[in-house]
Amino acid sequence: MEQYVIKGGIPLIGEVEIGGAKNAALAILAAAILCDEPVVVDNIPDIRDISVILSAIQSIGAEVERLGRHTVKITGKTIHMVHVGYDSIKKIRASYYLLGALLGKYKKAEVPLPGGCNIGIRAIDQHKKGFEALGAKVKIEHGMIMAETDSLKGAHLYFDVVSVGATINVMLAAVLAEGNTILENPAKEPHVVDVANFLNSMGANIKGAGTDVIRIKGVKSLHGTEYSIIPDQIEAGTFMLAAAATKGDVIVRNVIPKHLEAISAKLMEIGCQITEEDDAVRVFGNSELKHTQIKTLPYPGFPTDMQPQMTVTLALSHGTSIVTETIFDNRFKYVDELAKMGASIKVEGNTAIVDGVKKLTGAEISAPDLRAGAALIIAGLAADGCTVIDDIQYIERGYEGLDEKLRQLGGQIERVACEKDIQRFKLKIC
Ligand code: EPZ
Repeated sequence: MEQYVIKGGIPLIGEVEIGGAKNAALAILAAAILCDEPVVVDNIPDIRDISVILSAIQSIGAEVERLGRHTVKITGKTIHMVHVGYDSIKKIRASYYLLGALLGKYKKAEVPLPGGCNIGIRAIDQHKKGFEALGAKVKIEHGMIMAETDSLKGAHLYFDVVSVGATINVMLAAVLAEGNTILENPAKEPHVVDVANFLNSMGANIKGAGTDVIRIKGVKSLHGTEYSIIPDQIEAGTFMLAAAATKGDVIVRNVIPKHLEAISAKLMEIGCQITEEDDAVRVFGNSELKHTQIKTLPYPGFPTDMQPQMTVTLALSHGTSIVTETIFDNRFKYVDELAKMGASIKVEGNTAIVDGVKKLTGAEISAPDLRAGAALIIAGLAADGCTVIDDIQYIERGYEGLDEKLRQLGGQIERVACEKDIQRFKLKIC
């Protein structure tokens, strides 16, 4: 199994280019089947999860043509089935976006229950509530979610929980419904807004995405479009935290600074210098970092997908910090791995009490999930000595060329396939 081997203690210095947002791209690629004309989507990240959803879209009959590493053309006209096979999609949670898209277009859909990172209960009751409000019958049988109706009618829906997935999925089902749909208490993440903008570029009529109320006027049909995905807020934040934790100086390019405000604010609070340009953020982390309090919240609050990366940085900050995870109920699994590196973190329920230590030391650790895996890479880059990270498939499903981009910043990290490679790296670097 592939691993990353890292020699830590070197400040990251230089510039890095951010790719397209994974969590916008997964939804937009599913949404592309809502019309019969060709849809070209650009700036999609070249990662495993994207390949998985493209193969699922192809498996139901849509034409999928890769026009480049980051560009794909999808034509939904040739879709011949609304049943998505278990094998083609069980591993990614975003599979459920095909439910909203197929239900919205064909009034019927059968999709495997979603997989995804094991970071806590991944309920789908709000998706079901939304589809039923639009008139669909929804049942779960044999590991599949099945939704069907004669017609979809606009509805006024209040989400009991702020859910990115449910907000997007119900939008996908509502754009072709008869009449108006109002969504209250929706998610406001940048990728939710990106999906709404994409749908509007196809002729949908969605207003208010990114605010507390989304209003959708159902239209008869949608048409083809060309669209470019927004930059990935979480990839950008990951590099910002890597700069802080290694006391480096990194310019993160091709970002929307507004999407990073919560992360920038917390980095300034712990003593980093942050400067912003139109499409770049510079993180200067050379000072002694201080403790702070973090509470993950739906956007524009501090993102849950940045919680592990922030906790690693606080593990090296002076004083005691408190990190409260309010979105998922099992997102501190990486703390046991950090303990092997000398971190002093106590987890009580959904709160981590982080006593900053002077240094971390390299160790053999495993990535428990996507963002925790990225956080452990940051820990390895900041630690004294060598770190070997197992289960890197979790990391590579969500980050394109993370090791390569870190090497461009001076990080000593390599992807290895066996013990011999590790020894060779240690001889050469450690
Ligand atoms: C999306 O997951 C992202 N995944 C996650 O990113 C991200 O952490 C999450 O949004 C929150 O921002 C993708 O976009 C593919 P939710 P999603 O529905 O849609 C509860 C990553 O690292 N809930 O906003 O599954 C749920 O249990 C991944 O890129 C219900 O109770 O998240 C959770 O506690 C990890 N009922 C909370 O809401 C529902 O019907 C937020 O979940 C739906 C959700």
